[in-house]
Amino acid sequence: MTANELRQKYLEFFRAQGHQVMESASLIPENDPTVLFTTAGMHPLVPYLMGENHPAGKRLVSVQKCIRTGDIDEVGDLTHLTFFEMLGNWSLGDYFKHEAINWSYEFLTDKKYLGLDKNKLAISVFAGDNDAPFDQESYDEWIKLGIAPERIAKLGKDDNWWGPAGQTGPCGPDTEMFYWTGEDEAPKTFTKDKRWVEIWNDVFMAYNKNADGSYTELAQKNVDTGMGLERTLCVVNNISDLYQADLFLPLIKELEKLSGKKYADDPKAFRIIADHIKAAVFIMGDSKGVAPSNTDQGYVVRRLIRRAIRYGRMIGIKTDFTSLLGKIVIDNYQGQYAELKKNENFVDDNFIKEENKFSQTLEQGLKKFNQLKEISGQTAFDLYQTYGFPIEMTTELAKEKNLAVDIEAFNQAANQHQELSRTAAAGKFKGGLADHTESVTKLHTATHLLLAALRKVLGDHVYQKGSNITADRLRLDFSHPDKLTPEQIKQIEALVNDAIKQALPVTWQEMSLEEAKTIGAMGVFESKYDERVKVYTVGDAAKPFSREICGGPHVSNTSELGSFKIIKEEASSAGVRRLKATINN
Ligand code: SER
Repeated sequence: MTANELRQKYLEFFRAQGHQVMESASLIPENDPTVLFTTAGMHPLVPYLMGENHPAGKRLVSVQKCIRTGDIDEVGDLTHLTFFEMLGNWSLGDYFKHEAINWSYEFLTDKKYLGLDKNKLAISVFAGDNDAPFDQESYDEWIKLGIAPERIAKLGKDDNWWGPAGQTGPCGPDTEMFYWTGEDEAPKTFTKDKRWVEIWNDVFMAYNKNADGSYTELAQKNVDTGMGLERTLCVVNNISDLYQADLFLPLIKELEKLSGKKYADDPKAFRIIADHIKAAVFIMGDSKGVAPSNTDQGYVVRRLIRRAIRYGRMIGIKTDFTSLLGKIVIDNYQGQYAELKKNENFVDDNFIKEENKFSQTLEQGLKKFNQLKEISGQTAFDLYQTYGFPIEMTTELAKEKNLAVDIEAFNQAANQHQELSRTAAAGKFKGGLADHTESVTKLHTATHLLLAALRKVLGDHVYQKGSNITADRLRLDFSHPDKLTPEQIKQIEALVNDAIKQALPVTWQEMSLEEAKTIGAMGVFESKYDERVKVYTVGDAAKPFSREICGGPHVSNTSELGSFKIIKEEASSAGVRRLKATINN
């Protein structure tokens, strides 16, 4: 089975059960300062799991691009990937355990779909604790489907509870499906033997974790399932090494050619290079594509590319190679992800630039490193500043030589130079879900007011080019050729503050993209859903202050915002200006 066949079968199966197919959301989460990347299919759905209406309905299915950087040091083994695709289906307060489990079983075992051997399946369910009871219902469903009791493990929160990955948010008990991949017959009893490979996770999101650590039941009982595409393909095709399957093989072959070595000579290096280049292509080639830089997502791309280059040199590749491999990834995935082809030049340029830059300093940096007997924070910082060694690379090199690196001292040195706030970025690497905090929601509504005010003051050529919100400020990039004058800034602030003072209602409606355009809703994003979108209106419906296609969430009245202030105006890129602003209550 090819990757494409698996994607199609999955979507078709759930479409036939009344699910709407969603396009994969961007890898860069929207208005979510707590996490750098989309880490699971449910991530873009958090507001809807919490009870907001989804414009596409209550049954959804998608193939979602995901990036997880928390396990980046494990990449190189057989199971960890930085970029992967997640097949997922959701019930937003619609069906629950019975349907979810029976559909999972049918899709896994029916010959029309994956046709896996039901005698090689094992299951785990939540055993129960002080926060939530034993999941008897799931257990009974599996027994009814003919799974032997010895093959159903009852486990605690560590194994059978999903989310929230952040501090707070939707979560619940899950039931996981495992498949026996050993050569010999599947054992009667399910154990932690690694040959039992987890392939699918059905989460019953019926709880919210609160800031004080307690759990409350959600009014809406949801289902959130996730199946890793790459892993499932291996299981279905009876392949033990996913780098030997169609989503990686072309990269491995090219690496053999470039290096003159065989994959078997150094599988770990081959895997790291292939994994990292693929992840870098997807981040740079995203609809919100990010170039290598020293902060946030840009820092992750830089780190991935540089680590791939170092491993490339280790297996004997002497020439530049990242752009060539990048093209192979794009060719391999363009049918599923059209944005990659569209952004091919951007991806290619950035590989070339980054490799140029780093190739010049890598060798000297390694020479310098090899002379070191110890690595102080300052030395690690020098390696970063002079030779472009990301701190994680220095740490990895140090480990190979049995040396330690003082990360705290490195952070201090880096912060003193205001080079990069590594701690801030590091905190986000682990991934995690959005805390849709109050202040983020307020700043989100303020962003709508700001865009409307900009168009009133500067003209209709103003469109949103980018938005980013942290707990403290909003940032809006928009099309406009000139620097804003102090006078214009004052007018814009006054308009926004006036809209706040008028205590305008913020309301939303679902409609088709066409209807949204007809009523003059601003839309920066193409419709991500089959047809229905959500339109937020600020003020009177007949003569609104602002009207935008947007997923939310927002405050319900502008009076909740407090006073609005622009704190910075600067150029973002050619023809695009950038404003940062705050609100104070
Ligand atoms: N959110 C769950 C996971 O990531 C199921 O989709 O495993």
